[in-house]
Amino acid sequence: MTKAIRIHRTGGPEVLAWDDVTVDHPGPGQALIRHTAIGLNYLDTYQRSGLYPIPLPTILGSEGAGVVEAVGEGVTGLKPGDRVAYHSALGSYAERRTIPAWLLVPIPAGITDEQAASMMLKGCTVQYLIRRIFPVKKGDMILFHAAAGGVGLIASQWAKHLGATVIGTVGSAAKAALAKAHGCDHVINYRDEDFVARVRAITGEAGLPVVFDSVGKDTFMKSLDCLRPRGLMVSFGQSSGAVEPFNIGILSGKGSLFLTRPTLGHYTSTRQELLDTASDLFAVVKSGAVKIEVNQRYPLREAAQAHRDLQARSTTGSTVLTV
Ligand SMILES: NC(=O)c1ccc[n+]([C@@H]2O[C@H](COP(=O)([O-])OP(=O)(O)OC[C@H]3O[C@@H](n4cnc5c(N)ncnc54)[C@H](OP(=O)(O)O)[C@@H]3O)[C@@H](O)[C@H]2O)c1
Repeated sequence: MTKAIRIHRTGGPEVLAWDDVTVDHPGPGQALIRHTAIGLNYLDTYQRSGLYPIPLPTILGSEGAGVVEAVGEGVTGLKPGDRVAYHSALGSYAERRTIPAWLLVPIPAGITDEQAASMMLKGCTVQYLIRRIFPVKKGDMILFHAAAGGVGLIASQWAKHLGATVIGTVGSAAKAALAKAHGCDHVINYRDEDFVARVRAITGEAGLPVVFDSVGKDTFMKSLDCLRPRGLMVSFGQSSGAVEPFNIGILSGKGSLFLTRPTLGHYTSTRQELLDTASDLFAVVKSGAVKIEVNQRYPLREAAQAHRDLQARSTTGSTVLTV
């Protein structure tokens, strides 16, 4: 038996239950790991609320780091005692778990378990967003919403390191200072200020080649207005609510815009892609160019409070559930 945070029905943070659960012995292709740190993600709140349907009952959470305790038949390249991390595998809110071994990435020396647990999902997301969907290069100007959040703080630093001018939006003055200290050249508090007008002013009315928007409902349409003709809208989340259905003719009217709605799993769907993505991330963190800021820690059994704080917009950077 092990302790885990499970949901038996969808709803608010109150549906998170601290349960005793059985842990399966690792079958063929699987590994048993003991978590040392677990990452909190906005995704977890979508799955908890039912916005992203999952089978029930289910152990929540998709990101973690730990130590291999045993491996099943056919698993090569992993042995008990290895430090590993992963993303995109439901069931991380547990002291121990079994997991498909191909999802486990060895944590290199110089990266702590806590850092790994707080960057695998968020940092690999930033990797595919700014290195593959829109390969950011010196001289580019980009807009990244929620720049002081978990994904946002990594993205701001990494994009700046690649030579971009980074415009970040945030929801408070304290977050503005944080974003500025982590790579944002221009910070807009979008609760007080019209970010479209400010972007237009910063770009001399030209607009931007790309906008990364994870806020969704509240920002989506306005984000389109920040783009130059043939610019790219990357809509990758909905922390304010799902984007309303809309007429695609709007993309034509606003300048023959491109739109993508990506998901991390589709950018790390093979073992090689998974390793290459993580390796790029680990390298930039080990270089010191991107710092992983763990600004909140909660014991695993208090995951409900972590969800409340994340959804109340009171967290910054990464959040770790401790075991
Ligand atoms: N598609 C993918 O592959 C993928 C992968 C990972 C994450 N994501 C998305 O990326 C986003 C960031 O994830 P994260 O885990 O790093 O979370 P986070 O950015 O740390 O937290 C969400 C932030 O969104 C902002 N926000 C704006 N309006 C909000 C509202 N009405 N309610 C709550 N928050 C609001 C808040 O920052 P301000 O107060 O500064 O506005 C809040 O801190 C999420 O939307 C997530 O779904 C997508």
